[in-house]
Amino acid sequence: MSKFVECIFFALIVIAVEAIRNNGELAEISEFPFQVSLRINGGHSCGGVLITRKHVLTAAHCVNDYIDPAEQNLWSASIELGATHLNAGLRYPISRISIHKDFKNEYKPMFLPNDVAVVHLRHSVKLSPTIQTIALPRMMTEVPMNTSLIVSGYGLINHTAYLPWDSPLRKFETKVAGCEAINTTTLWNVFCDELRVGYAACNGDSGSGIIDANTKTLVGIVSGIGDECGAGIEPDVFLKVSYYIPYIKSELAYDPENSKIQSERPARNVEEIFYINDCYSPGCAYKSKD
Ligand SMILES: *[C@@H]1O[C@H](CO)[C@@H](O)[C@H](O)[C@H]1NC(C)=O
Ligand SMILES: *[C@@H]1O[C@H](CO)[C@@H](O)[C@H](O)[C@H]1NC(C)=O
Ligand SMILES: *[C@@H]1O[C@H](CO)[C@@H](O)[C@H](O)[C@H]1NC(C)=O
Repeated sequence: MSKFVECIFFALIVIAVEAIRNNGELAEISEFPFQVSLRINGGHSCGGVLITRKHVLTAAHCVNDYIDPAEQNLWSASIELGATHLNAGLRYPISRISIHKDFKNEYKPMFLPNDVAVVHLRHSVKLSPTIQTIALPRMMTEVPMNTSLIVSGYGLINHTAYLPWDSPLRKFETKVAGCEAINTTTLWNVFCDELRVGYAACNGDSGSGIIDANTKTLVGIVSGIGDECGAGIEPDVFLKVSYYIPYIKSELAYDPENSKIQSERPARNVEEIFYINDCYSPGCAYKSKD
């Protein structure tokens, strides 16, 4: 290649990267085998993280609207996993949704306090090279400034796009940075990413996992998405998972035969809502028995 062609080539690449928001890079599901697509009423609504063969961690704001049976707005709740593109993976129905009791659906200031939920599956998922659980972090482990992070998700590539039926999994690398762009004083249980145009989460990425790029351990889930998705106005806000271990553990211990815990927090058992089953894909796992 001549020097001249090389230069043009380089310039084009730089322009392309600058112009794309939340494009990051395409990812393979085998890099993030814990990545889940949460499906409410038949379509992808949020991401999630497979923490046991029967439990998924996600953001409370993803399921908060469906907790009240009186609303009658939930007719199908499932997860999909194991595929690099949406609508190509295995589906498993959800049996229970629980959200943190101190979750507040307040968008001002920008982030939502205690934005964490645990979703229970009716059947244990079958593990494979593309379907794996990820361990919870140790209780109260800090996520220091400048920690390198990898964020993955099936969400939009920019704030005006529509989610394609077969939206691919994408990833981007970032670092823990200050949350100064957000007006709040209660930031102990969240962390933010760098303001870097084009590298950010977007709609549909909420609930997805954030891993430490060096240790590959789970550190956060996507909670708040910056204005206009990666426009460099606001950072993304991630829930610090290590600060929610007691809630998560108590939810993992939930026993339907002994449902005292049920009354202690907003939760809904959703076995009964399956009058539309979301299980028409070729890889449907609806009937799988453990
Ligand atoms: C984070 O990185 C920046 C830029 O390299 C540096 O100025 C700052 O001191 C670092 N902060 C910490 C807490 O390591
Ligand atoms: C957003 O993505 C859509 C779909 O790819 C594209 O047509 C549109 O130009 C993008 N908009 C911006 C502001 O980048
Ligand atoms: C934060 O507060 C300042 C001063 O009250 C205000 O000017 C600014 O617009 C606020 N920013 C956000 C993101 O709400």
